[in-house]
Amino acid sequence: MRTQVIDHPLVAHKLTVLRNRDTDSPTFRSLADELVTLLAYEATRDVRVEPCEIVTPVSPTTGVRLASPRPLVVPILRAGLGMLDGMMRLLPTAEVGFLGMVRNEETLEAATYAERLPDDLSGRQCYVLDPMLATGGTLAAAIRFLVDRGADHITAVCLLAAPEGCARLEGELADLGVPVTIVTAAMDERLNEKGYIVPGLGDAGDRLYGVA
Ligand code: URA
Repeated sequence: MRTQVIDHPLVAHKLTVLRNRDTDSPTFRSLADELVTLLAYEATRDVRVEPCEIVTPVSPTTGVRLASPRPLVVPILRAGLGMLDGMMRLLPTAEVGFLGMVRNEETLEAATYAERLPDDLSGRQCYVLDPMLATGGTLAAAIRFLVDRGADHITAVCLLAAPEGCARLEGELADLGVPVTIVTAAMDERLNEKGYIVPGLGDAGDRLYGVA
């Protein structure tokens, strides 16, 4: 597994505003959207393309286009939905599938409660959207789900990550046999006793959707 922390002043600036508890939901949503687009630029560095021929107003030339099968973008419900527009801005022809995962707040384990994905993901590059890589349970379960369906390349885009979650993913996905990359705006210090990222930004879903 490869973890890529994006070092860019605009990423750091937007993340700082997201972290601030005084930032209201409309501002949070709009900045999260912008931040995801910046992360998406790095996350799509390995997106598969194929050569093609075109004609400019001046001459024929060669270029590239996205290869088939199209990449699949998978927001993890609920908070991953707040990252979808920011990702699709750079990959407008991608297909979108949905995965509903819920974390049991006592055991902190993840379970699937909803799924709307193609049956066969053979040869698909998948971009998983999950704002907070905290314990890693949700993301590990989601990645395994996609690989079991045939996905052969996974990139997870997370606003924030915790070292504990990354370590868990490394361990749980060691036998996966599929390349996994985590792209995030920051690697925070740790998790607290409730499984929240410290310093973090609080509950991403609540902050996106205005639940107090
Ligand atoms: N989920 C969140 O929304 N925030 C955290 O800090 C951890 C998990």
